Amino acid sequence: MNPADLPEWHALAQRRRALEPIRIADLFDDDPRRAERFSLEAAGIRADLSRNRIDDGTLRALIDLARASRLERQRDDLLGGAVVNTTEARPAWHTALRADPSNPSIDPLRAGGIFAERERFLGFAEQVRARAVTGAGGAPIDTVVCIGIGGSDLGPRLVTEALGATAGPRVRFVANLDPAELDATLAGANPRTTLLLAISKSFTTLETLENLRAAVRWLQQRAPELEPTRHLAAVTSQPQKAVGEGVDPQRIFTFPEWVGGRFSLWSACGLPIAIAHGRLAFRELLAGASAMDAHFAHAPLSENLPVLLAMLGVWYSNFWGARSRAVVPYSQRLARLPAWLQQLEMESLGKRVDRDGAALAIETAPVVWGEVGTNAQHSVFQFLHQGTSWVPLDILLVAENETSGEPRLELLNRFALAQADALAWGDSLLGEAELAPYRAAPGNRPSTLIRIERLDARSVGALLALYEHRTFVQAAVWGINAFDQWGVEIGKELLARRQSQGRLQGRGDAG
Ligand code: F6P
Repeated sequence: MNPADLPEWHALAQRRRALEPIRIADLFDDDPRRAERFSLEAAGIRADLSRNRIDDGTLRALIDLARASRLERQRDDLLGGAVVNTTEARPAWHTALRADPSNPSIDPLRAGGIFAERERFLGFAEQVRARAVTGAGGAPIDTVVCIGIGGSDLGPRLVTEALGATAGPRVRFVANLDPAELDATLAGANPRTTLLLAISKSFTTLETLENLRAAVRWLQQRAPELEPTRHLAAVTSQPQKAVGEGVDPQRIFTFPEWVGGRFSLWSACGLPIAIAHGRLAFRELLAGASAMDAHFAHAPLSENLPVLLAMLGVWYSNFWGARSRAVVPYSQRLARLPAWLQQLEMESLGKRVDRDGAALAIETAPVVWGEVGTNAQHSVFQFLHQGTSWVPLDILLVAENETSGEPRLELLNRFALAQADALAWGDSLLGEAELAPYRAAPGNRPSTLIRIERLDARSVGALLALYEHRTFVQAAVWGINAFDQWGVEIGKELLARRQSQGRLQGRGDAG
């Protein structure tokens, strides 16, 4: 069904026309309690939606559209482990990965041994942290080089960095096929105390296999007396393939086929997080995500944070023609959030046909981009304030900065708020009578403030789960499958064919 045929879609088109002449500033003038009324909290995350181009009627109409798209049934299917990834005939049950084993809604048999495997990989992480895992020469492992790409890299890398510096083992990441990344990571590393951890669901991803083999060669060249097996571990859904690369089965940690790459950090793919920050932090991460899952499952749609954020996305993409959206975290430790979100949203929502294979008559995924604040203020904010088109923005900040006693952290948050206000009200806030055109900033540019109480494992878990569900809700409304990514297969297949023909050059070169 084409969502644009729904009466609820037409109602929103009308609301857009009605809101067109109304400025965000007018909405605040008309309602002194707007900031409070358009703010809500879920699983420790507080979102202020008041600087958006919405009013009460618009929110109601957006929720009507969500309901008309049978969102609640689709959500229950997702959370219940039904086959929601239809082109690959499997569930997308990442919420089970973060559930407590006592959760009655997760049948452990259907969930395929995830709880036992969780204990196994967390136990291994603790052994590494306790320096009980040794290399072939008997020296304890102190450096873990994680080799994976896409979902097997972005999530684990983001969370490992987001949780801050650690006294535990050094955990490094390598994704790119360009040798520069592996070379830089291995420079100065001691092969006798280094563990190479390959993370790949399929264990056929060319970049990961080539980097793994190159790292093993480095090990053999630098310490020929070492038996490489003692320096290898793997996370995969295809353990036999990892064995084929020389990994000891005892050091292979698995997860079910139904875990999508971009949703896999909650599985054994999160091993780097647990090695860097410990078993307890990993459990907290899961608990935070689980709290967001419970909110998503039970809160009424009109008070459901992932639903409201998703419907704002639909509002701007489909009714205001916004073809991109930006995210600016005011936290260096969240610097990798935009890259993680790009895969999450653009791999999940970058689709041109609906679940039945019919061409879509509406726009889907906007381009997602972003940069950490305050750096972004000295690069992209010029465009955001004075460009000819506007881009809806998520501004993230860490609330406890405000009482940290560290002036730079306090300033960071003040900057974030000042930018949100400048986007909404523009130069009128300066109170100057007449500005030269080149100085004028029109304002009326929407942003959503997302406040995390503190940047700990629980909040990071809740934040990432919030974005996962936001993405799912948009897919549900647009009628698309959020869990496949056939578009990325074409390039892989083409390369495989050309390689088998012994032709690695581009089409022109090959003649
Ligand atoms: O090419 C895209 C992709 O399939 C992603 O979806 C996935 O996260 C990534 O490749 C890595 O795949 P794997 O974990 O199988 O190595």
